[in-house]
Amino acid sequence: MSYFNNFIKLFYLFGVGFLDKKSFEGFYKKSVSERQEIVAKEFSLTDSEKALLAKEGPLPFEVANRMIENVIGTFPLPLGVATNFVIDGKEYIIPFALEEPSVVAAASNAAKLSSGFTTSADEPIMIGQIQIVEMKDTKKALKLIQEKKSELLKALAKVDAMLVKFGGGPRDIKCFELKTERGAMLEVQLLVDVRDAMGANAVNTMNEKLAPMLEEITGGKARLRIISNLAVYRKARAKTIWTKEALLESVKSAGVKVTGEEIVERILDAYAFACATPFRASTHNKGIMNGIDAVVIATGNDFRAIEAGAHTYAWYATKEYKPLTKYYKDKNGNLVGEIELPLALGLVGGATKVHPVAQLGVKILGVKTAQELARIIASVGLAQNFAAMRAIVTTGIQAGHLKLHAYNLATTAGAKCEEVEKVALQMIQEKAISYSRAEEILKELRRK
Ligand code: MEV
Repeated sequence: MSYFNNFIKLFYLFGVGFLDKKSFEGFYKKSVSERQEIVAKEFSLTDSEKALLAKEGPLPFEVANRMIENVIGTFPLPLGVATNFVIDGKEYIIPFALEEPSVVAAASNAAKLSSGFTTSADEPIMIGQIQIVEMKDTKKALKLIQEKKSELLKALAKVDAMLVKFGGGPRDIKCFELKTERGAMLEVQLLVDVRDAMGANAVNTMNEKLAPMLEEITGGKARLRIISNLAVYRKARAKTIWTKEALLESVKSAGVKVTGEEIVERILDAYAFACATPFRASTHNKGIMNGIDAVVIATGNDFRAIEAGAHTYAWYATKEYKPLTKYYKDKNGNLVGEIELPLALGLVGGATKVHPVAQLGVKILGVKTAQELARIIASVGLAQNFAAMRAIVTTGIQAGHLKLHAYNLATTAGAKCEEVEKVALQMIQEKAISYSRAEEILKELRRK
């Protein structure tokens, strides 16, 4: 502990110094440029660091400042596009926003090797949860709610006339008795068709209207009134085949000596491994989310909601954490891949509508409904997962990363313009990819 305290002291003495807390009083009331000045002063930012904050990118400060609080700048991520996706017979170019190398290339490659994706998506039904406590008789309360269900649904339909006009609205009310460490409670689930919205606003608004009605019916108290991210009624699925021939072709250039049949077997082994241990299932699903999150972000959707739903769903069916994908062999010995997961995505409202780059993402995709977006994103998740497994069971994951890694190291070592490629290629050729080697090569290059 004392080491830690000393470290903190040193950090303040030689680093940023003591913060003047007063500078941050009423920070939220300041303009973006005033906040930037405060941060620059308090953290002794250099001119180039100040420029990083001050530079207005494709997300204007004015918009960013309306999206979250205390804005001091924006945070750019690379935006790439994955190619080769044919989903239900339609070609898509898919925007990915993420920082990790190889993800876009891997997804594009997996899509190219596949037979095209067939998909489906459920109606956009979200669940709102209301927790009711302090009832005299929970069983009786549950029964009373069920009796009043159609009356309640009718009243709720009036809450969001716009949603109803577009074909959505409240659909059902389900009730469950829960035994908890604080006694018996009711879990009321309000099912709402949210159409092309992610649905949090629509559902939470209806929940808050429903809660007092439930209190009146049950004589209890409504505590939580909030959307559930486990959107089990709003799942999307994708399926494809990777033939033995395509698998063989995919490793030819890497010089890996293995048959297509053997790659299928190795992938099935990898899949069985993921089914058998949560330590692998976690990484397996992380690979799926690499692609899913990237498209979710590029379209301005809520990736935390998608992550929460996906990982809980990975546990939900068996009450053990499992892979979100399935693999098996068809009668010809080809590899069949499938994915199913909840995808609560929106095209109206939220960042999708206000973030100019998200709008661009939606335009590039050419999607018209949230269900279409869900079908695309499920396909991306499946492709991404296959790509990772194919790489791991053949060349190893590092091979794909090395090229970009070499370029990154060359840039970090100070290489400019055409020097970057020269330094990176030499490192790849020498199979010596490191920061120190990048520096050495750069020095030699400049001496010449
Ligand atoms: C890395 O971001 C993702 C992988 O670890 C996924 C996997 O192991 O399947 C490559």
